[in-house]
Amino acid sequence: MKTIVLKTVNELIAWRKGLAPGARVGFVPTMGALHSGHASLLERARSENDVVVLSIFVNPTQFNQASDLEKYPRTLKADLETAEAAGVDAVFVPKDSAELYPEGYRYRVIETELSKELCGAHRPGHFDGVLTVVLKLFGLVRARRAYFGEKDFQQLSLIRGMAHAFFLETEVVGCPTVRETDGLAMSSRNLRLSPAEREVAPKLHAAMTSLADLAAARRAIEDAGFRIDYLEDRVQPTGEIRRFVAATLGEIRLIDNIALPESENFAIGGPV
Ligand code: PAJ
Repeated sequence: MKTIVLKTVNELIAWRKGLAPGARVGFVPTMGALHSGHASLLERARSENDVVVLSIFVNPTQFNQASDLEKYPRTLKADLETAEAAGVDAVFVPKDSAELYPEGYRYRVIETELSKELCGAHRPGHFDGVLTVVLKLFGLVRARRAYFGEKDFQQLSLIRGMAHAFFLETEVVGCPTVRETDGLAMSSRNLRLSPAEREVAPKLHAAMTSLADLAAARRAIEDAGFRIDYLEDRVQPTGEIRRFVAATLGEIRLIDNIALPESENFAIGGPV
């Protein structure tokens, strides 16, 4: 089966209309530069739905710095091969940002609490851009399920919250973080680390998993050469405790989060 490439909103709408009415559509929104983390979402979508849609769009409204947007890796040819190999039915690659923002970002989704914390405190407006583009994509794709990585746990929580708040019909499915063998969470940004930085980068995950004490973890991360934006343990609505970090190495800002082992005890009612 050949993957179809759709470059305009009108092409996507026409293609979507042609699907059988009861077809279960699984949707994976991305910004491209696909790696095994993205591939794991595609596999999950493939196994749970009749039709799989992938979107690739480097969304300008979620970038705080023009240079970050410019430097975002673009690897469309390889991405289309990944899509084909994963059995994706259709890839939506808008030909320009006016396709998704014909109104010029006049209308946007704003969340007033969680989006201002953690990454949101350091990247004003970032999550409004994410939520807005995801709402637009959900409206177009009309999926049964959409798949997001726990790698961006705050993003996953906000998208889940938006789907609930606006009674969206798409179920938001969270998928585990895929890591390199040394523990570094896979990310398109890893491509921009120098060889020396790439060696240091796994220390972020190592420190947050091996040191229960936050102050000790903070010291280890700083001693490895990172500048920390935040490092926090937070209780989730499920009762689970997660540890969140964002830290910059050289010019590259990395984020990660893990469920703390104690939270398993917490979930079954034991001591934290
Ligand atoms: P992007 O960074 O391309 O990520 C697309 C999806 O892949 C997100 O749900 C992200 O959490 C997931 N992902 C990335 N790295 C992963 C890893 N190592 N393991 C598991 N999943 C991983 O997130 C975005 O794009 C954008 O903000 C988007 C939602 C597409 C809106 O523009």
